[in-house]
Amino acid sequence: MKLITIIGARPQIIKAAAISRAIRNHFSTQMHEIIVHTGQHYDENMSEVFFDELQIPRPHYNLQSGSGNHGKQTAKMLEGIETVILTEKPDAVLVYGDTNSTVAGGLAASKLLIPLVHIEAGLRSFNKSMPEEINRICCDHMSTLLFSPTRQGIENLKREGFNPENKPPYTIDNPHVYHCGDIMYDNSLYFSELASGRSILKELDLKPGFILSTIHRNNNTDDPVRLSAIFDALISITEIYQVQVVLPLHPRTRKMMEVNLSVELQQRLNSSTRIKIIPPVSFLDVIALEKNAGMIVTDSGGVQKEAFFFQKPCIILRPETEWVEIVENGNAILCDADKKRILDACNTFHQNPGLNYPPLFGDGKAAEFICKEILNQLG
Ligand code: UD1
Ligand code: UDP
Repeated sequence: MKLITIIGARPQIIKAAAISRAIRNHFSTQMHEIIVHTGQHYDENMSEVFFDELQIPRPHYNLQSGSGNHGKQTAKMLEGIETVILTEKPDAVLVYGDTNSTVAGGLAASKLLIPLVHIEAGLRSFNKSMPEEINRICCDHMSTLLFSPTRQGIENLKREGFNPENKPPYTIDNPHVYHCGDIMYDNSLYFSELASGRSILKELDLKPGFILSTIHRNNNTDDPVRLSAIFDALISITEIYQVQVVLPLHPRTRKMMEVNLSVELQQRLNSSTRIKIIPPVSFLDVIALEKNAGMIVTDSGGVQKEAFFFQKPCIILRPETEWVEIVENGNAILCDADKKRILDACNTFHQNPGLNYPPLFGDGKAAEFICKEILNQLG
């Protein structure tokens, strides 16, 4: 069968490694994958760096959609993806997650009556002011096969009318929902060993136990009050706990810091010897950082889960999360962009280091299961 996979933003490129690996190792004679990169992310360290390192096949198409307002960016992708689908005539189109690349792929495929496969289906923040919430709801309702990484995802889909008892043949009007585990857990297990040889800790002079932080959500980067509160809290943490903080910074955040942080706060950051702000790093480097960190402070969906995979307590810089299980189990604390809540959570983790990490995200073989089902149902 011919499968078109749509990627575009950094986390989708990384996710593609798991599915491409499963196809290469188990289904190469039955499945031909054509990778379409929308070009949503384009900096070397947001895109190119991942392909060789994670053994991802080079994209057959790069639509070079680039950055822009939501409508303009999504429209460019939609037009490009439609042309590729009309040329390639695939049996199915696969999309990951909840970005503008995801929704563009979903719209293009469903309007051309090509079955859509959505990986990371069912996740909800119940906050429609997030662009991602709109993207994921639309995508789920355009899909024929929906693969949810968590039980909560299945419950969310049931509430929206999806019936797990549907029988084949599956179509957009008779879709199938699966609880299959998380392909990023597959990836974290697979690449963890390879990451042990990385020299990033030495290069940055980091002592194990440091704090890893990533920030990129638009509601944090684009709001001066929120962005300032987060950086102010990070500075306080370095002072209270005498600990280093490393921040591989998304280009969006780097740009918005200059606009939204006061000169005084920028100077405090620059003069702090414990805060290391660096460009985005490769996936193997981020794993090396995650494994050696004492705690992770993030607004990223992916990094929250990786904190759990590598058994690190996590402070979530958002009011809510789609990964509710890790909060309910006490492994992560929602702190929004509130300095007091961030410092209180830090204190809580400091006083109660013994957390447990139950197997919430599958057995590391989600990608294999997904490919088998795509072949069985749509091949
Ligand atoms: C996007 C996704 C978000 C995901 C994130 C992963 C949407 C609506 N948002 O957010 O869900 O969590 O990717 O990282 O799809 N930029 C560069 N170089 C790049 C890419 C971006 O400089 O290679 C800068 C540009 O100024 C751009 C800004 O970052 O305007 C935002 O990029 P965009 O892709 O629109 O959204 P993200 O914030 O990256
Ligand atoms: N990541 C990376 N380099 C970095 C920061 C993050 O490779 O400098 C990885 C991270 O390990 C995770 C993914 O990027 O797998 C998460 O992407 P991001 O935080 O951009 O988006 P989100 O998951 O929030 O959509």
